[in-house]
Amino acid sequence: MMIVSLVLFAASVTSAFGLSEKGNTLSHVQYNKAYDLKEYYQRLQIFTENKKRIDKHNEGNHSFTMALNQFSDMTFGEFQKSFLMSEPQNCSATKGNYFSSNGPRPDSIDWRNKGNYVTPVKNQGGCGSCWTFSTTGCLESVTAINKGKLVPLSEQQLVDCAQNFNNHGCNGGLPSQAFEYIMYSKGLMTEQDYPYTAFEGDCVYKPELAAAFVNNVVNITAYNEVEMVDAVGTRNPVSFAFEVTSDFMHYQQGVYTSTECHNTTDKVNHAVLAVGYGQENGIPYWIVKNSWGSSWGMEGYFRIERGKNMCGLAACASFPVPVL
Ligand SMILES: *[C@@H]1O[C@H](CO)[C@@H](O)[C@H](O)[C@H]1NC(C)=O
Ligand SMILES: *[C@@H]1O[C@H](CO)[C@@H](O)[C@H](O)[C@H]1NC(C)=O
Ligand SMILES: *[C@@H]1O[C@H](CO)[C@@H](O)[C@H](O)[C@H]1NC(C)=O
Ligand SMILES: *[C@@H]1O[C@H](CO)[C@@H](O)[C@H](O)[C@H]1NC(C)=O
Repeated sequence: MMIVSLVLFAASVTSAFGLSEKGNTLSHVQYNKAYDLKEYYQRLQIFTENKKRIDKHNEGNHSFTMALNQFSDMTFGEFQKSFLMSEPQNCSATKGNYFSSNGPRPDSIDWRNKGNYVTPVKNQGGCGSCWTFSTTGCLESVTAINKGKLVPLSEQQLVDCAQNFNNHGCNGGLPSQAFEYIMYSKGLMTEQDYPYTAFEGDCVYKPELAAAFVNNVVNITAYNEVEMVDAVGTRNPVSFAFEVTSDFMHYQQGVYTSTECHNTTDKVNHAVLAVGYGQENGIPYWIVKNSWGSSWGMEGYFRIERGKNMCGLAACASFPVPVL
């Protein structure tokens, strides 16, 4: 059977579109996928459509740019099936139990620069387990800020064990519900002791190996971005969920804003971690850690407009209070 690789067509298509040497190198190194000839032509067509959309967007006047990435040979439907949460989550308007710090709130903050508080960007692979990465990312940071030690924590324990709290492994879940699970199960193991597989498996949680603990779960009042700013600015990073639409798949850098997504609770399909905020050319934004590897977006991070409940980002934000 004849095998053709994405590297070949990425190289030929990108040179046809005049993409830089750097772009070609990136696709050589990281997105080397092999196809048979039939799929090659289907993928080439999808890739070409995506490339057209990216170029058109970049010719316009937008606060963010798009670029080819590891998803550029997929339709949004395919992407959605593999990488986003498949069922609507119970991200309903909660009253919230956040207490404002009443302290000075910085104009901008980035927890990555304040100390050793944020683990490297991880990769969820083809499993709708974003909610577990948002959860570990938040608990890792909260624990490091309060106890002084940064330890990567286990997503797989949440994928395998947190079902009783309305979480559904590779089909979705919510950080707030995962924090509840960790609180009641009395701990979360380390990444090293319970490594990630990107598949649902049997729960093999060993409480004696638990490395991080949750004393209480704090829910931000639904749609209250001021509380979110207070929490991130004066306490720690905050987990949130939002709606990913097809434009987000091609995000490269800048402040993401969309007219394609909704601001309602029933559409959220991806969970991530706000590690800071700032303002650029008059547009306030969140600095957000994603779980699609460090080659996506801004070294695995993205910025999204702040203050407008963009794509429902303030609908169900939360963070844990650690056991010290
Ligand atoms: C681009 O958009 C910004 C923000 O909407 C606006 O201030 C600026 O004038 C626009 N520039 C051009 C060249 O249209
Ligand atoms: C939402 O909550 C209800 C009641 O607890 C539960 O039956 C349902 O399965 C939940 N939905 C999801 C997607 O978790
Ligand atoms: C926070 O949200 C979770 C799930 O979304 C819920 O189970 C819990 O009761 C909420 N906690 C508070 C204090 O409202
Ligand atoms: C959602 O968007 C609509 C239309 O822009 C706006 O009127 C509404 O206030 C927004 N709701 C929330 C909760 O952000």
